[in-house]
Amino acid sequence: MRTLLHFFLFLITLWVSIIIPPVHSQCIKDQQLSLLQFKKSLVFVSLHPSTKLISWNASTDCCSWVGVTCSRNGRVLGLDISSEHVSAGIDNSSSLFHLHYLQSLNLADNLLGSDSQSIPSAIGKLANLRYLDLSDNRYPGKIPIEISRLTRLVVLALSDNVQLGSPNLRMLVQNFTELRELYLDSVQISEQGSEWCQAISSSLPNLKVLSLSSCNLSGPLLESLAKLQSLSVIRLNWNNISAPVPGFFANFSNLTVLSLPGCELHGTFPKEIFQLPSLQSIDLSFNDQLDGSLPEFPRNGSLQYLDLSWTNFSGLLPNSIGNLKMLSTIYIQECYFTGPMPKSMTNLTRLVSLSMSGNKLEGSIPSFSGAKNVNFIDLSYNGLTASLFSLPLLDYLDLSSNQFSGPLPEISNVSSYLLNGPNLELDLRNQSNLSHLDLSNNQINGKIADWIWSLNNLNLLNLSCNSLGSLEVHSINLTNLNYLDLHSNQFHGQIPIFPSPCNANYLDFSRNYFISIIPSTIGYVFPRTTFFSLSSNNLNGIIPESLCNSHFLKILDLSNSSLSGTVPHCLTTMWSLEVLNVRRNNLTNVDDFSHNCGLKTLDISENHLQGRFLKSLVNCTQLEVLNLGKNLITEPFPCFLRNTSTLRVLVLRSNKFYGHIGCHKTNGSWPVLQIIDLAHNNFSGEVPGTALTTLQAMRTSKDAAPWKINNLQFDLDGIYYQEDTITVTNKGLDMELVFVLAIFTSIDFSYNKFNGSIPKEIGELKSLYALNLSNNAFTGAVPSSLGNLSQLESLDLSKNKLSGQIPPELTKLTFLEFLNLSYNQLVGRIPSGAQFSTFDAASFEGNKGLWGPPLTADNRTGFSSPKLEGNHSNARHEIDWDIICPEIGFTCGFGIVIGSLLFCKRWRKWYYSAMYNMLLKIFPQLEQRFGHHRRHVYVHQRYWRR
Ligand SMILES: *[C@@H]1O[C@H](CO)[C@@H](O)[C@H](O)[C@H]1NC(C)=O
Ligand SMILES: *[C@@H]1O[C@H](CO)[C@@H](O)[C@H](O)[C@H]1NC(C)=O
Ligand SMILES: *[C@@H]1O[C@H](CO)[C@@H](O)[C@H](O)[C@H]1NC(C)=O
Ligand SMILES: *[C@@H]1O[C@H](CO)[C@@H](O)[C@H](O)[C@H]1NC(C)=O
Ligand SMILES: *[C@@H]1O[C@H](CO)[C@@H](O)[C@H](O)[C@H]1NC(C)=O
Repeated sequence: MRTLLHFFLFLITLWVSIIIPPVHSQCIKDQQLSLLQFKKSLVFVSLHPSTKLISWNASTDCCSWVGVTCSRNGRVLGLDISSEHVSAGIDNSSSLFHLHYLQSLNLADNLLGSDSQSIPSAIGKLANLRYLDLSDNRYPGKIPIEISRLTRLVVLALSDNVQLGSPNLRMLVQNFTELRELYLDSVQISEQGSEWCQAISSSLPNLKVLSLSSCNLSGPLLESLAKLQSLSVIRLNWNNISAPVPGFFANFSNLTVLSLPGCELHGTFPKEIFQLPSLQSIDLSFNDQLDGSLPEFPRNGSLQYLDLSWTNFSGLLPNSIGNLKMLSTIYIQECYFTGPMPKSMTNLTRLVSLSMSGNKLEGSIPSFSGAKNVNFIDLSYNGLTASLFSLPLLDYLDLSSNQFSGPLPEISNVSSYLLNGPNLELDLRNQSNLSHLDLSNNQINGKIADWIWSLNNLNLLNLSCNSLGSLEVHSINLTNLNYLDLHSNQFHGQIPIFPSPCNANYLDFSRNYFISIIPSTIGYVFPRTTFFSLSSNNLNGIIPESLCNSHFLKILDLSNSSLSGTVPHCLTTMWSLEVLNVRRNNLTNVDDFSHNCGLKTLDISENHLQGRFLKSLVNCTQLEVLNLGKNLITEPFPCFLRNTSTLRVLVLRSNKFYGHIGCHKTNGSWPVLQIIDLAHNNFSGEVPGTALTTLQAMRTSKDAAPWKINNLQFDLDGIYYQEDTITVTNKGLDMELVFVLAIFTSIDFSYNKFNGSIPKEIGELKSLYALNLSNNAFTGAVPSSLGNLSQLESLDLSKNKLSGQIPPELTKLTFLEFLNLSYNQLVGRIPSGAQFSTFDAASFEGNKGLWGPPLTADNRTGFSSPKLEGNHSNARHEIDWDIICPEIGFTCGFGIVIGSLLFCKRWRKWYYSAMYNMLLKIFPQLEQRFGHHRRHVYVHQRYWRR
């Protein structure tokens, strides 16, 4: 991308020099005065003094000043003050506008609009301008219509003023008959295809460069554009074109750049366009409804850059791809290409970057030994099986998620592997540049060949999800290692030792057979680690205190082992630690949390804890997810936790909590609580209505605003912690999952001894998705206010002592997928209509006084409808905390790393669909609400590619 940008800059600069040949002559006095006045009025960002304007002083000829060009007779024709950190000083009264002869004005890359100064309308006075560049200045407001008076313009560039609006495009450009290049990227033009295409095709017959990225343009691409035969560059990135690509683009014989990523294109891409001999760069990425296939490529094609990633392109890769001798970049990841990688790719000697991940390619990998400059190869997520060898020096190699099997070759006998023809012949011995090596998710077995441990530049090493059994070293000495992922293998024995402190930031040893105790010195070895997981091994013994010496530790996952004893005091007082997961161990105690507690997620469920530490949790004022489920805690309801206003998820299920859940008013409320699970305890008494009405997050129905995820970064290897803050794009499923989980709200009070009536205030929790009050002793009527829970998908009130009629308001619950009112004392006719017709008898049985379908035929004397077969368990509506808890944690913005959740799957398109399907099980009507079109995955390219 960067090269393209340079290409454009080069084009622009070229123009300037064509338009204004540099001439030296004595500058005219009044021109000099105007320039000096102009200089005086400029304001610079104080940190960055101007470099060009230093030479501007009255004692020298202004035609010799840097940035000034003159005609032979001393008229100032050109002014270039680009990239000078000018922050203000050019308004309508500026003496700049006295320079009437100006033909070229370049003020790009300053901060002229930073003080809410919009583009001065006096620009229209510079009637001789042929070249005008005001790009990248943070100009707000609108492009002044006076610019349309500059009828001699050849180049107009107003790009990258992010908040700039535009007058009607037709009005703006109608008199630019000489215009060759138009750059309005990120200007909010907001017009339909019928308007903007028409404006351009009727007014700009000589246009060569059309650059309108992110202009909020709609489609279609009108036939009238076919007139613009001179077009060489078409860039419409990230507009909502929503139309097919017109075939007439293939008639533009000078087309060099066609860039249409993220345009919601559909239909079949006209493949003749690929065959244009002039074409150098084509980018159709992120159009997930665009079909197409690759044609035979002509000999000596000029294509350098090919990006089809995240489209529906399919078919075989043509052997003629080897004809594209200039090709340096191929991105076809996440398409549907099949078959082998053509052997002719060997001939792509200019290749620099190759990503074909996420297709269905199979067979062997061609040799790239002739491509001396290739440094990036990503072939992950295919079905590649056979050998790969003779690679040039690489920086980046990702072969993860293929079908490579067999052991890694050893340095001493690679040749014997060649002879034996094993599945994987990977000679990386001399890859001294390699910084990224990902062989994860294959079927590689045996031991880690020791040459891996001599790749001194390795920054990332991912061998996870193979069948490797031995590390083959007792100590790892890779000083540049930042990311080490060995999870889900069959490593056994001791956790590897690092001879000198290891600077790795991310360490995942989870899901292996590492045995024995955690070395007591472990924390001294990993001083910089922020993510550390030993989860799901056979570790026993205690949690060593030395872990607290990893001062950057943010996520510590020791779950699912046989650790016993106490969570050490220092971990509960460690400000950096945000996620602590010790679920499913044999821990018996947790030391008190101190005021230094910075935890956001604490999962200590499934241990043998008795809860003496409970009161000290008030010190964890950042807590968002708290899971204490399945312990032996015998305590009253922890009212003091109501002061933790950040809490989103509270799980107390399967303990021995007892007593009332009402709290004193002086305790705070839970404004963001989304999930409260008190099931399987001994709580009793009434559920006070006020305890519910304070739950703000459940009361307000949220809109689909972009959800900010702090500290998480999308990465080729999943998601992990970073300092930066990002916003997830609001398109596609990634957003949707985040969104769904963000709005997922549930109350589970089942299997307790609550009595009294169900508080009618519950009807105020408008965003509630699931409500389970079953197996209690609630009496009285089913509150009709439940009919207000318009989002409700699951309602279980079974096995209580509820009486009266089923309120007809419940039929308003159009999303209700699961209903269980069985085993109460309800009477009367079952309401009919809407969702109610979908429930079978099991939803109502055990209520002697209920009648009507589906229990009985409609006439009162009728017989009961046949019992439906099948176990009508509501298991599927019970929340699977194994899945939901980390996801919610992730959603809430502090992320338990997905890797440990999904084992060998990564954060990519089929992961989304897996996740989506899981969500569909919990919320069967998701599809109905969000629509099918949003299932397409869409990760903003910025986060995806580096
Ligand atoms: C632009 O051209 C139209 C006719 O095509 C004319 O009426 C109008 O005055 C022109 N505007 C400017 C600013 O020259
Ligand atoms: C294509 O470019 C060539 C060389 O610059 C020029 O002579 C020719 O007229 C252009 N073709 C069109 C259709 O503009
Ligand atoms: C590479 O190119 C040469 C010359 O164009 C050709 O003879 C050869 O067959 C090509 N190699 C492959 C593997 O296609
Ligand atoms: C680790 O590697 C570094 C640099 O390669 C070297 O200087 C150091 O001696 C090695 N340490 C051990 C214990 O092998
Ligand atoms: C952990 O607890 C379980 C269940 O109480 C027990 O069977 C197991 O032996 C314990 N393991 C260790 C290492 O203490």
